[in-house]
Amino acid sequence: MTGRDSGAGLTTTPELAERYLMQTGRRLPVTFVRGEGCLVYDDTGREYLDLVAGIAVNLLGHAHPDVVRALASQASRLIHTSNLYFTEPQVELARRLVELSFPSRAFFCNSGAEANEAAIKLARKWGTKNRDGAFEIITTTGSFHGRTLAAVTAGGQHKYSDPFAPLPAGFVHVPYNDAEAIESATTDATVAVMLEPVMGEIGVVPAAAGYLERVRAWCDRKNLLLILDEVQTGLGRTGRWFAYQHTRIAPDVMTLAKGLGGGVPIGACLAAPRADVFEPGDHGSTFGGNPLACAVASTVLEIVERDGLVGHAAEMGDVLAQATADLGASQTRGVGLMRAFEFEAPKAKAFQHACLDAGLVVNAVDDHSVRLVPPLIITARQIDRAHGVMKQAAG
Ligand SMILES: Cc1ncc(COP(=O)(O)O)c(C=O)c1O
Repeated sequence: MTGRDSGAGLTTTPELAERYLMQTGRRLPVTFVRGEGCLVYDDTGREYLDLVAGIAVNLLGHAHPDVVRALASQASRLIHTSNLYFTEPQVELARRLVELSFPSRAFFCNSGAEANEAAIKLARKWGTKNRDGAFEIITTTGSFHGRTLAAVTAGGQHKYSDPFAPLPAGFVHVPYNDAEAIESATTDATVAVMLEPVMGEIGVVPAAAGYLERVRAWCDRKNLLLILDEVQTGLGRTGRWFAYQHTRIAPDVMTLAKGLGGGVPIGACLAAPRADVFEPGDHGSTFGGNPLACAVASTVLEIVERDGLVGHAAEMGDVLAQATADLGASQTRGVGLMRAFEFEAPKAKAFQHACLDAGLVVNAVDDHSVRLVPPLIITARQIDRAHGVMKQAAG
């Protein structure tokens, strides 16, 4: 037997995808081949305005010249070495992230799920050292932390975890925005509380005023770690570098991914000194923190800073909020350029298709809610264009 098979006769990309790719998710009927800024183009040359940005990833849009330059330049020097050696781009990226956030050190990996795996392992080791072997992590119903086994268990959505039982022990779920529920769920076995500052995947549910502060105070009082999953909210998306910066608190551990590499896969877990308990041999990743991804990520941070894109995201967030206010939605939610609106009728998917047909990329997270997480470089004019399409599609 050879690998040759009967793919003959299949011609379109969707047909070939069905034949050769595991069917882990449903795709919209479009094949993108290139992009530029906030625009993407399909295989027929048709243009679309992209309000999804690879699910909150492409902070600088598509094919940003500085990102392209950084990629080419680093690729021509050194792509990968493993973590058996030092590399300059990795240390430089860690320095930048720490200086933008809170006193900490960084571990690099390749995705949000991996960043959360690192945080979970860190919390467990910390519990062994500091809390008599406590290992339970309190997370919230509806949260999303990625697709590895521990991450789906940490996440509070049964549809992602139940098919894969038995699940790892040590995760307790409580309602979001309910600090009292966290307090009641805390036992001697609890080691950490893990939260998204804005729940993204479930449809952009922001933390209520005072919630994160109260949970921080509880963690301090009970000697627990506060882990914030900023995989989606981080790097300017909410109009601050990190969403926790809308408050006066800081986490002990913060996870990042998505926007960090401007489209190149990279994840990070930052730990404050009290939580920084990994020792040589405890954790690792062959590709994590490779020079290519780190050099690009440093460039992304540099451009976000140079072009004032964090403030721009806050400003454009207000414009985008306005553009979702008259679509007949029963609810609109969000912070900065992380927005959603909810229809009373189950028409989010039809709305998404109608937008796509009219050249606009939006993301229906379920039958009722639509999420918008455009590149941070989006302009008021582009939002106006999107508004026209959405108004028609909602009508
Ligand atoms: C808050 C949050 N955490 C973790 C993840 C998982 O990230 P990845 O898909 O890179 O593993 C996501 C992805 O949507 C996310 O939104």
